[in-house]
Amino acid sequence: MGLLPDTAAVLPDGSLSIGGCSVVELAAQYGTPVFVYDEAHLRARCREAVEAFGPGRAVYATKAFLCGAMARLAHEEGMMLDVASGGELYVALRAGVPADALAFHGNNKSVAELRMAITEGVRHIIVDSFDELDRLEALHAQGLPVPKVLARITPGVHAHTHEFIATGQDDSKFGFNLGNGDAHRAVDRMRRSPAVHLVGVHCHIGSNVFEASNFAKAAEVMASFAGPLDLPELVLGGGLGVAYVEGEEAPSITQWGNVLLDACQALGVRSAVSVEPGRSIVAAAAVTVYEVGTVKHIPGLRTYVSVDGGMSDNPRPVLYGSGYEAFLPRDVGAARPCRARLVGKHCESGDVLIFDAALPADVRVGDLLATPVTGAYGHSMASNYNKLTRPPVVFVSDGAHRPVVRRETYEDLVRCDLG
Ligand code: LLP
Repeated sequence: MGLLPDTAAVLPDGSLSIGGCSVVELAAQYGTPVFVYDEAHLRARCREAVEAFGPGRAVYATKAFLCGAMARLAHEEGMMLDVASGGELYVALRAGVPADALAFHGNNKSVAELRMAITEGVRHIIVDSFDELDRLEALHAQGLPVPKVLARITPGVHAHTHEFIATGQDDSKFGFNLGNGDAHRAVDRMRRSPAVHLVGVHCHIGSNVFEASNFAKAAEVMASFAGPLDLPELVLGGGLGVAYVEGEEAPSITQWGNVLLDACQALGVRSAVSVEPGRSIVAAAAVTVYEVGTVKHIPGLRTYVSVDGGMSDNPRPVLYGSGYEAFLPRDVGAARPCRARLVGKHCESGDVLIFDAALPADVRVGDLLATPVTGAYGHSMASNYNKLTRPPVVFVSDGAHRPVVRRETYEDLVRCDLG
């Protein structure tokens, strides 16, 4: 139960409710697979971040999960938002989030994306490369206004996380390297350039980082770089890890805030310190509910339990080897003595949701299975592989439920076909 959203409860018949809604009934109404988000949990994490870091200092990283309702919710709860593409910028603006609450990221922003960010008037552009500076100078020469920018620095800090989601080390596609002098050269150029107004520096050491000491190390490196520059803003990125499986423990947002802000204070940082949490705001707020379609026992080898989604709604196990748990919504406290591989319905053997799942002995065809902690980088990384339609997103709160993203239809699958 520790992995389930804040308002998860067990009903008298042993079944699961979230936000006062029966998960079995939600599945009956919306079909499966379905992402069920606990709205109170989302709001509580946003508030915790704003409380820990201060108003305007907690920036929600929308890549973790973005739709109109989520963008509005984070904004309503006092967070700024970061976007990493023209598409994310479009979705956030369309949701009614004002441009001056948005920070614009990306290691390869196009001229069109930069033009959009500047003309909309985003709060900051986080400049990632010398080529981007060339583009910003060309846009300025065309008469566009001067944006406020931060310099993205690669601090040379190795975060303990999966190689694909570590970003702070020297060997990285992101940012200006501190170690080889690029960071200093970039800052010098930005200070002299008429095309940008440099207001601070930024770093992000990686994602799903559990050790607070990694963040303190990054703060130390960044503080010694940023100190002499005397700029108003210092952004220390996102990356706080979350527990995905039983027995894992991650620091809370509040604990993360204490470690980071204490470190910054001890280092004499005078800039305002901001962070960009994504995963820690949304991951544990959601469960994905699937229906079991086949159970295949191969005596002496393995049991395969197939559900009606898979790598198209959660590619994380395949991409990063991430672990998950699975529960029966009809009997959430059931003992789970059986080991099986929980797989999806895609046409490849690598389509695995849980490599070695602990499941109740009586899992059968037609059962629902819920995987908790799927609120981050599930919906946002979902695909139409094998032309599966992407699942809906349902927000639940105080006994009420509302779909905020509908299930795709077959029509949606051919929406862009021209032939
Ligand atoms: N800020 C920047 C500049 C980032 O690049 C990221 C994540 C964040 C903030 C948010 O980090 P978070 O708090 O969510 O860890 N798809 C991968 C994660 C990739 C993260 C990329 N950048 C996964 O599913 O684990």
